[in-house]
Amino acid sequence: MNIDKNVEDDGVIFMSIKGDEQNNDGVSGKTQSGESKADQEGKEDTLILAIESSCDESAAAVVKNGREVLSNIISSQIALHTIYGGVVPEIASRKHVEKMNGCIRAALSEAGVTLDDIDAVAVTYGPGLVGALLVGVSEAKAIAFATGKPLIGVHHIEGHISANFIENKDLEPPFVCLVVSGGHSHLVVVKDYGEYEIIGQTRDDAAGEAFDKVARAIGLGYPGGPKIDKAAKEGNPDAFSFPQAKIGDAEYDFSFSGLKSSVLNIINQAKMQGQELNQADVAASFQKAVVEVLVGHAIKACKEYGYDKLAIAGGVASNTGLRELMEKECAANNIRFYRPSPVLCTDNAAMIGAAAYYEYKKGVRFGLDMNAVPNLPLGDRERRFHAGK
Ligand code: KG4
Ligand code: ZN
Repeated sequence: MNIDKNVEDDGVIFMSIKGDEQNNDGVSGKTQSGESKADQEGKEDTLILAIESSCDESAAAVVKNGREVLSNIISSQIALHTIYGGVVPEIASRKHVEKMNGCIRAALSEAGVTLDDIDAVAVTYGPGLVGALLVGVSEAKAIAFATGKPLIGVHHIEGHISANFIENKDLEPPFVCLVVSGGHSHLVVVKDYGEYEIIGQTRDDAAGEAFDKVARAIGLGYPGGPKIDKAAKEGNPDAFSFPQAKIGDAEYDFSFSGLKSSVLNIINQAKMQGQELNQADVAASFQKAVVEVLVGHAIKACKEYGYDKLAIAGGVASNTGLRELMEKECAANNIRFYRPSPVLCTDNAAMIGAAAYYEYKKGVRFGLDMNAVPNLPLGDRERRFHAGK
């Protein structure tokens, strides 16, 4: 997979993600002949323009038939928020307003299509930062209103799960999915397209949140996940023995706050004794503790619920340690392991287009009264706004 990167004057990184055509992984704007894939559209094909703005990435993509990405544009604000040690919602919303049109224009142009060729406009409408979500929602509604095309609202986490469909053409529900992002840690049975049963979730911090907080505490800064991942490669995972919480009454639930406190205690103890802590050792030991719990729960769920397919999704799914251990344990337990490329694990609009396709096929249409729902629960079909209402 190729990533064209351009750092803009304001520090925002503009990325265009293109697939490796030889690997035929479907993330590509041009065919081998150099002809735009959109030029070869048959009437039966469905092209979705997808928009994502739930946190600090402004993103737009054109996705064909739910699994083929014709373009995938991401404008990442990470550099702006790094100064503050985390995402500042107000700054995120303002940057989305500034960048979103450019992302959409680039996504259409790279796919070789115009708005006329698009069958539906999809957008993340929750969960996320409300001001950030509203930018994408308003943009999608304006396009749907101006073109008369159908509008589809997508749950952000359902998007993360659907990222698995893009590079794994053979993956079909049912399967188990471990969703681990900055705001969510869920163990889910994907029963069918758009049908989810949550079997476990976090009692306190999300996995990504724990990575971010521990990274800040040990002085690695923001964004914590990738920095701990990198530091852990140089450290000893057995240097510290951190607790792995087990929740008696809900064996698939997670809890990371005890682990986080334990890391903080070690930092304070070292400070009091005037000792210097080895950052890499703490990072490696913390990552090991998180990853072992995540993998343990996911494998156990597959075995007990009787599924032989396991997928991972969300920003933390790009973690090297998690990918390695999950691969090993899946192989040992005869479970097929699916994971998106790292760039499709973190926020992007291609995954929103993938999820939207299956909603579109089911006839789901949102009205122009669609609103952002910052705490939208996973799998909630009640709060959907359908056309005509
Ligand atoms: O899915 P995502 O991009 O946004 C949300 O929907 O939250 O996830 C962001 C989270 C952050 O907490 C970030 O630190 C974490 O994913 N993350 C990682 C890695 N890359 C991103 N955590 C561990 N290892 C990584 N390589
Ligand atoms: Zn996300």
